[in-house]
Amino acid sequence: MVDYTSSDNSVKIVQNDAISFLRNLPPDSIDLIVTDPAYSGMNNKLKLGKGRIVGKYSEKGEENAKWFTEFEDTEENYKLFLEECRRVLKKSTGHIYIMFDSFSLLTLAPVVRNYFDVKNIITWDKVNMGMGHYFRRRHEYILFATNGNNQHIRSRSFPDVWRFKRIHKAAYPTQKPVEVFQAMIYASASEGDTVCDPFVGSGSSIIAALKNKCKFIGCDISEKSIEVCSERADNFLLNNVDILQKKSSAVDGIVFWE
Ligand SMILES: C[S@@+](CC[C@H](N)C(=O)[O-])C[C@H]1O[C@@H](n2cnc3c(N)ncnc32)[C@H](O)[C@@H]1O
Repeated sequence: MVDYTSSDNSVKIVQNDAISFLRNLPPDSIDLIVTDPAYSGMNNKLKLGKGRIVGKYSEKGEENAKWFTEFEDTEENYKLFLEECRRVLKKSTGHIYIMFDSFSLLTLAPVVRNYFDVKNIITWDKVNMGMGHYFRRRHEYILFATNGNNQHIRSRSFPDVWRFKRIHKAAYPTQKPVEVFQAMIYASASEGDTVCDPFVGSGSSIIAALKNKCKFIGCDISEKSIEVCSERADNFLLNNVDILQKKSSAVDGIVFWE
C-alpha cells in the first residue's frame, strides 16, 4: 500500500478499493463527492461485439491487457458503494456528482435514486469525437444529486451542458479535464470544504479541489495512480503548476466560474 499526505495536510490519497476506503471514513465527514468510476459494464459489453476500447482488452490476465482495474459494477456492488457514499456525506448539505457512460447510465444510474435526491443529468460535451462503432462518442453524463432535499448550488444561472475539450494524448488513461471537476466543485462547495473522489485516477479532481481552496481525500486501487497523483499534487502545491494539464480545456476560455 502506498499512501500520500501533502505537507500542508490539504490532500490525502490512499491506495485502496473504493468501498473499503469509504468504510474507513467517519460518518458525515465529507461535504462533496465528485467521482468517475471505472465501470466494467461498457467494456464487457463491447468485448462481446467486435469492439475494444484501448489495448488488448479481451486478453485478460496478460500484462498490459487492460488500461486499469475496473470497478465490478454489478447492481449489488454498486449499492454497497452508494450506501457508503451516503453514510460519509454530510446529511442535508452534502452533494454528489457521479460520471456515467451511456451503458452505465441506463443500468446503474437509476439505482442512485434509492440513496440520494437526483437533481440533474449534466451532459459533458467533449467538443471532439472519440471512438464508437455507430455514432461516435462526443459526450458523457454527470449525475448530480443531494443527500437530502431542498439544497441549492451556488447560482441558478449555470447550464446543464458543459463544453470542455477532452484531453488529447493523456498521460493517464481516461484522464479528465480539471475544468469538469472545477465546475462541480465551484457549484457545490465552499472554501475549506472536504471534497472526496474514491476513483481518483490521475488526480484531476485534486487539482480542481485545490483551485477551489478545498481539502481533498481520495483513493484509487492502482499504485500507479497514487504515484501520479502525489507528484501532480506536490507540483501544484509547491509551484502552482499542473504537470498533467498545461492548457485550459475550456472552449475559447469560457467557464461559468469566472
Ligand atoms: C475512469 S478512471 C478515473 C479517471 C480520473 N477521473 C482522472 O481524471 O484521471 C477510474 C479509476 O478507478 C480506478 N479503480 C478501478 N477499480 C477501483 C476500485 N475498486 N476502487 C478504487 N479505484 C478503482 C482505476 O485504477 C482508475 O484509475
